[in-house]
Amino acid sequence: MPHLFDPLPMGGLTLRNRIGLSPMCQYSAVEGVPNDWHQVHLGRFAAAGLGVIFTEATHVTRDGRITPGCLGLWTDEQGEGLARILRSIRSVDPEVKLGIQLAHSGRKGSADLPWKGGHPLKDHTAWETVAPSALPHDEGWPTPRALDAGELPGLVEAFVASAKRALAAGFEVMELHGAHGYLIHTFLSPISNHRSDAYGGTREKRMRFPLEVASAVRKVWPKDKTFGLRLSGQDYLDGGMTVDDTVAFAKELKGIGVDFFDISGGGIWPSKLKVKVGPGYQTPSAERVKAEVGLPTFTVGMILDGGQADEIVQSGKADAVLVGRGHLREPFWVWRAAEALGAKHFCPPQYLRAGERPGANVPRTVLATKG
Ligand SMILES: Cc1cc2nc3c(=O)[nH]c(=O)nc-3n(C[C@H](O)[C@H](O)[C@H](O)COP(=O)(O)O)c2cc1C
Repeated sequence: MPHLFDPLPMGGLTLRNRIGLSPMCQYSAVEGVPNDWHQVHLGRFAAAGLGVIFTEATHVTRDGRITPGCLGLWTDEQGEGLARILRSIRSVDPEVKLGIQLAHSGRKGSADLPWKGGHPLKDHTAWETVAPSALPHDEGWPTPRALDAGELPGLVEAFVASAKRALAAGFEVMELHGAHGYLIHTFLSPISNHRSDAYGGTREKRMRFPLEVASAVRKVWPKDKTFGLRLSGQDYLDGGMTVDDTVAFAKELKGIGVDFFDISGGGIWPSKLKVKVGPGYQTPSAERVKAEVGLPTFTVGMILDGGQADEIVQSGKADAVLVGRGHLREPFWVWRAAEALGAKHFCPPQYLRAGERPGANVPRTVLATKG
């Protein structure tokens, strides 16, 4: 029997299955406000029967965006835009859990849209970026301004204010972006954090700001919902963060009441990355975090089909999978996984006849409006 479609309790709520839409920036907002693109893009997943839909990285300040097209949650208008999209998804699928990823880009901010090259902006639209230390993200990137310790409480407050707006908008799953070389990750990694004050130096000191953010958000995020972090399990760089560091940080996070982890990888100094990319290449990091910390743990990164995903869950390497690019290509990834595994999946009544399609290798009865 497959386990991929088993429910997953996480904090105060339960996902209906172990498949999620990974957060994916769309670079299509105007002043951080979602629009028709976001409605159409996220709406494509309303009938998919996912356990959780994560919206893209949503930034807590204007200067904390990656690109001028990134979503934000520093105004009520942005929150109302997201609330409208959530209401429409729930009207199709009342059971799917809706998740947000709150982020600050740090030294990876002020970048152009990926389809325009994704390089640091050089014209009048560029803005000053900030980081724990005045060290650029990679070759060709500007040197960020090192944050003064006195500025950090303001950033914590920005995360808290955005978390409150996310709650008001109707999100149930809150994830902080602590991976991929953005602000929180740059505090954790010894490569990007060369501070000599209370926020750098030892591993404990590098964890301090990320823990301050997580503790403050935990306090405002209700226990009957769920709260976690995406972390880069490892930097894949000599002298970078290792899985030991991630496990140590995850244990601290467990101590402050975090409910789940979402383990990705990399993001610091991409041009020097030492990693062999292939199916499930990041799952070993998630496996260590799950085994050593003992909280529900997602894995992400080239999870290509239901069989692979079910093997990960069955063998206990991770509790759930997040699928990114596969979902962009195929919003009904979950249906194909269910058909391959002989499992039931959600299907809105309007689509029930899809089970009659010629060549479907499952009888129509496996389709269920709940499951
Ligand atoms: C278009 C695109 C946008 C992404 N944006 C984000 C993001 O906002 N936050 C994040 O943590 N990861 C982001 N990612 C990474 C994905 O969430 C995912 O971890 C990665 O693509 C690996 O999973 P996959 O092999 O299933 O695509 C993005 C990836 C893509 C392709």
